[in-house]
Amino acid sequence: MTDTAIAWDTYSRQRPERRPVNARGETTWFNWTQYPDHGPGAELLRLPPGGRALDLGCGKGGNAAHLAAIGMRAVGIDVSPAQLHAAAERWGYLPGLDFRQVDAVSYLRESAQTFDAVYSVYGAVWFTDPARLLPVVRERLRPGGRLVFSQRPPVEGCYGCQASYIPRGDDEDPLVVKRWDYEPDAWEQLLAEHGYMDVRAMVLPAPSGPRTVGTLIVQARA
Ligand SMILES: C[S@@+](CC[C@H](N)C(=O)[O-])C[C@H]1O[C@@H](n2cnc3c(N)ncnc32)[C@H](O)[C@@H]1O
Repeated sequence: MTDTAIAWDTYSRQRPERRPVNARGETTWFNWTQYPDHGPGAELLRLPPGGRALDLGCGKGGNAAHLAAIGMRAVGIDVSPAQLHAAAERWGYLPGLDFRQVDAVSYLRESAQTFDAVYSVYGAVWFTDPARLLPVVRERLRPGGRLVFSQRPPVEGCYGCQASYIPRGDDEDPLVVKRWDYEPDAWEQLLAEHGYMDVRAMVLPAPSGPRTVGTLIVQARA
């Protein structure tokens, strides 16, 4: 296994499963944020009936499963076998859903498939150099198809490639993965430079409560 896959397997073991139902009693749902029952849903993808979507860094698969449950075809890719094992265990019964263990850029370079939407929720878009990722995503989107992704907003003044630490035991160093942070206007410029249109980046405020970090959501059209 690669160091990246080992790091994300470690992360996977620390993450709880998605709840059985959300606040509305639904068994599947789409969440762009780190807060339960908060923010917009799958409508941001503007999928046509039966449309095809690609989840970059799908993790335990809850968002891709929701798309399959509402009649879309969803491919979820992830580098972590542990994340994908959990995804297959919980959602493997759903038709129209396909999970694959592969790096995002490799998949996008090697696949001949095109998609109506490519999305990433705190996923591979956050953890891949946008100079490598944005061109290959665009090649796999049908004309007019959407790229939508969410991640934590940057810490003021900390832009470009940053270190994310995945903790382990008290006597072990944390594992490190790289992520890419920019302010909304910098994302808008970056996507426009790579040929995307109608680019909109904003920070959705946190829900009321003790936590204050919002969610950066970026939307664009190929
Ligand atoms: C913070 S988790 C988010 C998972 C999921 N999207 C969610 O909302 O729960 C980040 C995920 O991205 C995956 N990932 C990171 N870099 C990747 C890459 N280059 N290619 C594919 N998956 C990647 C990790 O394995 C991990 O499952």
